[in-house]
Amino acid sequence: MDEKKVGIIGLGKYLPENRLTNKDLEKIVDTTDDWIMGRTGIKERRIARDDEATSDMAVHAAKMALKSAKLKPEDIDLIIVATITPDMFFPSTACIVQNKLGINRTPAFDVSVACSGFIYAIAIASQFIKSGIYKHVLVMAAEKMSSVTDWKDRSTCVLMGDGAGAAILGEVKDGGILSIHLGADGSKGDLLKMPAGGSRLPASISTVEARMHFLKMQGNELFRHAVKIMAEAALKATEPLGLKADDISLIIPHQANIRILNAVAKRMGIDPAKKVYLNIEKYGNMSAASSAVALCEAVEEGRVKKGDTILLDAFGAGLTWGAIVIKW
Ligand code: ACO
Repeated sequence: MDEKKVGIIGLGKYLPENRLTNKDLEKIVDTTDDWIMGRTGIKERRIARDDEATSDMAVHAAKMALKSAKLKPEDIDLIIVATITPDMFFPSTACIVQNKLGINRTPAFDVSVACSGFIYAIAIASQFIKSGIYKHVLVMAAEKMSSVTDWKDRSTCVLMGDGAGAAILGEVKDGGILSIHLGADGSKGDLLKMPAGGSRLPASISTVEARMHFLKMQGNELFRHAVKIMAEAALKATEPLGLKADDISLIIPHQANIRILNAVAKRMGIDPAKKVYLNIEKYGNMSAASSAVALCEAVEEGRVKKGDTILLDAFGAGLTWGAIVIKW
């Protein structure tokens, strides 16, 4: 089978209507708008309705991506959903999405890579197209982080938001994905986790009472790793192509904390004001959905033009990380 050039041929996003501002959070926990803005760059985040699950958000984003790629659901050969907040343990959210799109023979699976999920899913999807096995792969990154957020824990509840992004991958004539770098370090898994609900600690009255079904994070420690790892991942993806910082038109990073992104840009010798795409102020950290929504909005706003070389760069629980260079 021929190796093909693979690119992103359609993008979509979905953000729930309900906005939760820093001022709203001041009424829930002991925090201030100044602290949240100064430490994270987040002003507000979107919160899904109670009756809105991850698959619902993913379907909205998928429909927009299909429209932008001028494809019908039947044209999709594989469905991948990146999420750590699936509708339920099983069936996979990808199977639920598949059913909602009405394409009930299409293979479908989830990837659980936290904030790096969109990058991992694109990396997986691209292999199927490159090898000629599939023509069009629908990748979604969708998270209802509010469902695993402890609204009594001020150190985490101010950070997260809900949303979904989608991308359709297919063969392109020029450019496309030029390089992929993925990584993981399971020895640091304790830095960010949801301790209960799995086979290690199944749900019980005591796990609920101990608030173990919410995400727990050692923010300081993660911050340090995030800066180092995101800068290294960017280098690992760009160096084999002989690309220097100046050759990158725009970095579209996972939106965890504006201070992390400024520090990464500094390490790379890049002016963050000009070359780092930011929408963290509006949405907070949506885990895997963050870089997917950021890519979609960067394209919508005309920040990514044909011929541009862009870098997706993400880091998250696991630990996991990934960087992808794409010529648009
Ligand atoms: N409002 C007011 N004060 C607060 C708040 C709050 N919301 N949260 C914490 N504080 C206090 C702390 O109690 C502490 O007070 P103390 O000095 O009296 O003990 C003080 O602020 C400083 O706390 P730190 O945790 O040291 O604050 P830091 O500057 O590290 O910022 C943050 C915290 C924003 C979480 C930062 O560490 C961070 O962004 N870390 C990385 C997060 C990340 O990248 N996660 C990975 C991706 S997410 C995923 O994979 C799902």
